[in-house]
Amino acid sequence: MKQRNLYIKTFGCQMNERDSEIIAQLLHGSGFIPVHDMDAADLIILNTCSIRAKAEQKVYSLLGQLRQYKLKNPDLLISVAGCVAQQEGERIQRKMPHVDLVVGTQQLYRLPEMIRRLDNGAHHLKPAVDISATFAIPSIRKLTGPAPEAGLPFPAGGEIRKFVTIMQGCNNYCSYCVVPYTRGREISRPVADILDEVGMLAARGVREITLLGQNVNSYGQTNPVADRPVDFPALLHRVARTEGLRRLRFTTSNPKDLSDRLMRCFAEIDILCPNFHLPVQSGSDRILQRMNRKYTVADYLDKVRNLRRYHPDITLSTDMIVGFPGETDEDFEQTMLLLETVRFHSSFSFKYSDRPRTRSATFGEKVPEQVKAARLGRFQARQDSISLERNREYVDRVVEVMVEGAGKNNLLQGRAATNHIVHFPEPPGSSFSPGDMVMVRINRAGQHSLAGTMLMEDSERD
Ligand code: 5AD
Ligand code: SF4
Repeated sequence: MKQRNLYIKTFGCQMNERDSEIIAQLLHGSGFIPVHDMDAADLIILNTCSIRAKAEQKVYSLLGQLRQYKLKNPDLLISVAGCVAQQEGERIQRKMPHVDLVVGTQQLYRLPEMIRRLDNGAHHLKPAVDISATFAIPSIRKLTGPAPEAGLPFPAGGEIRKFVTIMQGCNNYCSYCVVPYTRGREISRPVADILDEVGMLAARGVREITLLGQNVNSYGQTNPVADRPVDFPALLHRVARTEGLRRLRFTTSNPKDLSDRLMRCFAEIDILCPNFHLPVQSGSDRILQRMNRKYTVADYLDKVRNLRRYHPDITLSTDMIVGFPGETDEDFEQTMLLLETVRFHSSFSFKYSDRPRTRSATFGEKVPEQVKAARLGRFQARQDSISLERNREYVDRVVEVMVEGAGKNNLLQGRAATNHIVHFPEPPGSSFSPGDMVMVRINRAGQHSLAGTMLMEDSERD
């Protein structure tokens, strides 16, 4: 088989990161070797995101630049995958005729076959576009054959943290969100497939798994193909029993579906990391209602209180949108108030943008760009100082850190269960590998990370 170079550029979320890995795995079987240099590629795949207007603009701007690449090397194949592919379909090739392949979010498994057809001279069959919907996620064994261990880069040596997709799509229809249109209706993967994949990863040395889905809380609830009705807390308990696994995380959750049983998992499951990403989106009930989020600020605060009751050390992060249509100064002040009340460890915040087919794109009372920018600046400045204050609470505390590898300035880098990045010097004469667990006494806190020194003896621990 002819060996060719593959360059994948991933935009957007962890879901896309995992999909890019799957693409690389699939194409490995067709002789494609991943490279880090776009200039050396025979096949360039943009795995795209369309969640905000800016994300989509980035894709089109890179695609524009790729025109020159194609002129220089007419054999180069250019493919667009992911959410922009799903949303735009054939329009991409109309705007960017140098694109060879457009493959939607649920058809990436067809990429090898689509490429084979192009190789076999089917260029005239352009547009090669497949954005159709499918109703099952193939199991990893179906994708890789009965013995996936044989020669597949899965995972690459030394990787200790991996994502496992447990469901795709979303049925919530928040008024601003394009995901139900780009990722389709919600489908859960069968439990057996998930346990199989996690078991395989753990057997290959992976120590930390993050279960991925747009709304993991409704895992198994709306799924016509689930093997047995297993809900998300039950799935967590089962995954947690995987031999060799040291840490378990998940993302993302919608507060409206966050059950008491799920919150209790933080007290019940040892390896479940005390770190929760719980997107709130706004601190104003009026805006939450217009967003179709189906909870109030009081409901949200109640869940935060319960989470902290079950695990007092839990770190919370969130997503926030500013400048949603109709958001007044007073609504925004309520968002700022929520920030002060919860004091999130970190947050991702965005200026609202209209997305195709969403309900809020049709709403009036759009907030002017400068107002959105000013609100975002104020929100982010305050979050930055809260993050720093929160991180300073760790100074003088001892935390368990999973070593990830070499960090900046000759330091080792690892991660605490709370998801803090931790830097520390490797004690002379010792040598640590990714996946090792060490105890670190924190002596410095930054906005985005902690630093400290390693404890060598049990007696040194608090
Ligand atoms: N405009 C701005 N931000 C958005 N998000 C989703 N849709 C939009 C939009 N139309 C944000 C939400 C979501 C995160 C992934 O992106 O905060 O949680
Ligand atoms: Fe972006 Fe959402 Fe698609 Fe992820 S699922 S790539 S966040 S649009």
